[in-house]
Amino acid sequence: MKIPPVKGTRDFYPPIMAVRNTLTDGWKAASIRNGFEEYDGPIFEMLKMYQVKSGDEIVEQLFSLQDRGGRDLAIRPEITPTLARMVNQQINALPRPIKWFSVPRLCRAERPQKGRLREFFQWNIDIIGIEEVLADAEIIFCAVDYLRSVGLTDKDIVVRVSSRRMLAEVLKAIGIREDQLDPLYALLDKINKLPPEAFEEKLVELVSDSGQRDKIQALMQAQSIEAVAQVTTLTDAARSAVDELNRLFDTLNTMGISDYCIFDISIVRGLAYYTGVVFEIYDREKTLRAIGGGGRYDNLLKQFGGPEVTATGLGMGDCVLGILLEEKGLMKDLPTRNLDFFVACADAQYEAKAIEITAILRSAGKITNYSYKTGALGKQFKQASEQNASKTIIVGSEVENGQLAIKDMASGEQTLVDWANFVGQLG
Ligand code: HAM
Repeated sequence: MKIPPVKGTRDFYPPIMAVRNTLTDGWKAASIRNGFEEYDGPIFEMLKMYQVKSGDEIVEQLFSLQDRGGRDLAIRPEITPTLARMVNQQINALPRPIKWFSVPRLCRAERPQKGRLREFFQWNIDIIGIEEVLADAEIIFCAVDYLRSVGLTDKDIVVRVSSRRMLAEVLKAIGIREDQLDPLYALLDKINKLPPEAFEEKLVELVSDSGQRDKIQALMQAQSIEAVAQVTTLTDAARSAVDELNRLFDTLNTMGISDYCIFDISIVRGLAYYTGVVFEIYDREKTLRAIGGGGRYDNLLKQFGGPEVTATGLGMGDCVLGILLEEKGLMKDLPTRNLDFFVACADAQYEAKAIEITAILRSAGKITNYSYKTGALGKQFKQASEQNASKTIIVGSEVENGQLAIKDMASGEQTLVDWANFVGQLG
């Protein structure tokens, strides 16, 4: 019986695993140099955790299951709800601000397509307990810091930034009611994915007043924060949200990354819990889906039964990033297997000696493999080269005199060494 792999999953053969490790190691290094600590949670949670505030899109993409006790569970499609749950559980004991990172394996039952799979890895960085936009700027800086570290420049990528709070306040100033906001966000998030007529059609379903619709259309055309401020007469709350977004851009400028960041009113984000600054990172040509995205979610901890604590963060997947790095020729210097020693055995009668020296080398911390073959050395040398061994030890009749032959694989030079001396020098 031949069982195929599950649609939208990947098998990590060693060369693909090397790519994955390179990405995740880079994420971890960037997190640590930006002052984040690592955490993780379980791969499944109570189903209702994602039904509370992740939004319909994510709920439709859940892999859910029932345990033997009849409890409804789901494989995590994101880690932010887990983070909120974990922080809430120890809210009084945890020193603030909380700056945590994680690289979870996530599952979403999406239609597999370029850059979107059903199982993927996602870098998460979150700052909890800092209300000022400085925290949002730090999250964006950390993402750019990582992307720069792998060789991407402001010619390759761009962080598209907006503010849900500003959008909400301007929409309210236009006359949109609070209860219309959530469905409207879901539609506005799709503005670039829908043909204009389809967008207008759906907008009519949500907003009956044509004057309001015209203002929403004008708002979504705004190319700058100043242009947003001109769409309607701003309330104090809307003015304060506009000022906040301007402060964010000033901070990004101070951090020296303003060339990487632009204002983009169409960034709304699919997840329902965002409350303030929101952003998505794209390739400059926008030929790919988002590399990452995030923003402020000030109410999520409270919605999960905790106190009101502010939070902001980012998620970046490994799929689009991997495609972009390949396209730009930046996927190089991948770690490969390199052996210190490969142990070859010239004659079956010395196999025990070969196994013994392999064990001694490994115990001394040397990366060592054994040939599993005896006799013809040509094939064993080939194996040693395939495994990138720097030296091959040849166990043959010399062991009778307490000696080993060592071949330097780069120069091809072969020398005889005294077994006891060799072992003594391994340290
Ligand atoms: P998200 O926008 O749903 O946000 O996902 C963030 C990133 O994860 C996407 O931009 C993409 O790189 C990657 N991603 C999402 N779905 C898939 C998929 N099916 N296959 C491959 N990659 C995917 C969140 O998940 C938020 N929880 C992020 C966050 C953290 N916000 C605050 N803190």
